[in-house]
Amino acid sequence: MPTRWRRIVIFILSLLPLVVLVVKAATNHLGADPQKAVVLFIGTWTFYFLLITLSVTPLKKLAKQGWLMAHRRMLGLFTLFYAVLHMISYFVFILGLDFSSFGAELVKRPYILLTIPAIILLIILGITSTKGMMRKLGKNWVKLHKGIYIVAVLAWVHVLLQVRSSYADAVLFGVLTLALLGIRIFWWQQKKSAQV
Ligand code: HEM
Repeated sequence: MPTRWRRIVIFILSLLPLVVLVVKAATNHLGADPQKAVVLFIGTWTFYFLLITLSVTPLKKLAKQGWLMAHRRMLGLFTLFYAVLHMISYFVFILGLDFSSFGAELVKRPYILLTIPAIILLIILGITSTKGMMRKLGKNWVKLHKGIYIVAVLAWVHVLLQVRSSYADAVLFGVLTLALLGIRIFWWQQKKSAQV
């Protein structure tokens, strides 16, 4: 399939979670606490997109799926899109747009603090993801975009700190994040020892 068509297919597939959410909301299938369900649903998909984006390089190297590289930027931008949507849904559905209570909320939910640098980093990565910025920043672009690893760790701690009854999500996201960051540490060490 030509890259252009793949791009369209990936774009449509990436919008599917949003379509599912709208259908669930319209048909009253969001459960007993629909507002909370919206925040959790979008938050979960933000993490999935983060993991999918982080999988592109390992899939290229280990499974020889180099064609994915042409779509890494779009997947990264979808991570940003869902993260912003997750944040907005929190402000609208949980905070009720009452920003005067945000300070008290941070005391009640300190895990939100961790997401502030994560969101800022994601926005910076999104802005600098263009070819023009890549050329302009040169080697620094690669260094800057390693910031996605920090986002992954912050996002995972954010999930871990809000565990109430089940550890399932925190364990799943933790194992996958660890695997995707661990493989990079392994490659980095291999590269270093080859240079010695
Ligand atoms: C990289 C960014 C982020 C990722 C990957 C992310 C991911 C997630 C995930 C996976 C959950 C569900 C955890 C579970 O299964 O129990 C969640 C919940 C939550 N997130 Fe995020 N999040 C991000 C940023 C943010 C931001 C910026 C805010 C708010 C300013 C936020 C506020 C919340 C809240 C309040 C919940 C819990 C909702 C509840 O249980 O009532 N998150 N997030």
